[in-house]
Amino acid sequence: MPAPVRILTGITPSGTPHLGNYAGAIRPAVAASRQPGTESFYFLADYHALIKVQDPARVQRSTLEIAATWLACGLDPDRVWFYRQSDVPEIPELCWLLTCVAGKGLLNRAHAYKAAVDANVEKGEDADAGVTAGLYMYPVLMAADILAFKANRVPVGRDQVQHIEMARDFAARFNHSYGEHLVLPEAVIEEQVATLPGLDGRKMSKSYDNTIPLFAPAAQLKKLIAGIVTDSRTPGEPKDPDSAHLFTLYRAFASEAQAAAMHAALREGLAWGEAKQALFELLDGHLAPMRERYELLIAKPADIEATLQAGAVKARAIATPLLRELRAAVGLRPLSLATAPAPKAKAAKVAQPSFKQYRESDGRFYFKLVQADGRVLLQGAGQASPKEAGALIARLKAEAAKLDHEVDTGLQLAGTVVGRLEQGVELAEVVQALAALAEEG
Ligand code: TRP
Repeated sequence: MPAPVRILTGITPSGTPHLGNYAGAIRPAVAASRQPGTESFYFLADYHALIKVQDPARVQRSTLEIAATWLACGLDPDRVWFYRQSDVPEIPELCWLLTCVAGKGLLNRAHAYKAAVDANVEKGEDADAGVTAGLYMYPVLMAADILAFKANRVPVGRDQVQHIEMARDFAARFNHSYGEHLVLPEAVIEEQVATLPGLDGRKMSKSYDNTIPLFAPAAQLKKLIAGIVTDSRTPGEPKDPDSAHLFTLYRAFASEAQAAAMHAALREGLAWGEAKQALFELLDGHLAPMRERYELLIAKPADIEATLQAGAVKARAIATPLLRELRAAVGLRPLSLATAPAPKAKAAKVAQPSFKQYRESDGRFYFKLVQADGRVLLQGAGQASPKEAGALIARLKAEAAKLDHEVDTGLQLAGTVVGRLEQGVELAEVVQALAALAEEG
């Protein structure tokens, strides 16, 4: 089976979700998360929110609302990785490692930063007036979000493509200096997803104040729809559906047959008032069940918190071993580890640790790692065949830096238990012995 494709995207919790967010981002993302052969990572980018929003209550409220929205819209947290950025300390940690390879000149050219500078220059102010280092570093934090999970594809809007290119650049620089550790992500530009018009016909956007909040109560929804701008054709007068954003909104939620029927009815002179009533019924029918789930969810913030905490555990099961590997790669290593591989000639003379394989009475195939002086370092988990035991040994050598150890579960590699340490043995000793063996070939 081919390795699953990892899809990752961040949602900045800085406002209340509207119908445009739903049609343009949430609905396609929830549908994509159900595709077989994929692993979806959706997270609340609350560190990013701090760059724009410095009102703590709003950050918290928006995080709650956005988490509840995604869950109400059908995102299944058991199936995907759904977490909050600030619950994963490996992300800011990686952000620093990337900061140290990121070109400052590249960051100077980031669109959002450049726009702020240009606006300042235009006003005759200092170029960096009011620009925080957070805004400047935005692309590096975003790269850390992506690279911490070795994401393959990142669905984003056009405005974010530059950020993905930067993430690739930072990853390539890191790999160039330290070896192939990071995966270069690809942007997936969503061309054909619906961009919904707002009440006034311009793109639905918070900044135009023309939005329909996704979970507005039915009465408010009805009122907002009544306020949608139309032309002044009277009832009975034929209308042009293709230039009416009321129809664009209708079509975004209708079946093909419904859309065709509405198209025909408008051309035959359906009154705008009736069309608005039909739009309300269509939207309310679509949204009411989700709105109901949303209300239930939002009434229990502790449950959402628990869901996010469980998501963080799942996310960190991936990010923690990767960061351990990266720390070792850049030289943030236990001092007990050899600083550099011993010269070959000398290494040949020094007695090496070795693997001993054997079969137990349970019929399974075991191995242990034995130090040159005979001391046992680790005991491998039993395998069904000698071939599997051999493969596991090869993996241990190749991926020593990714080994993880927990007192109750034992030694783990990428989340699977591979054995246990002997009493009194340190993980660092094992990693060093494995590195020596891998060096030997
Ligand atoms: N910058 C993205 C936006 O404004 C949000 C985001 C943060 C993101 N981190 C990410 C998107 C990582 C994709 C991947 O829409």
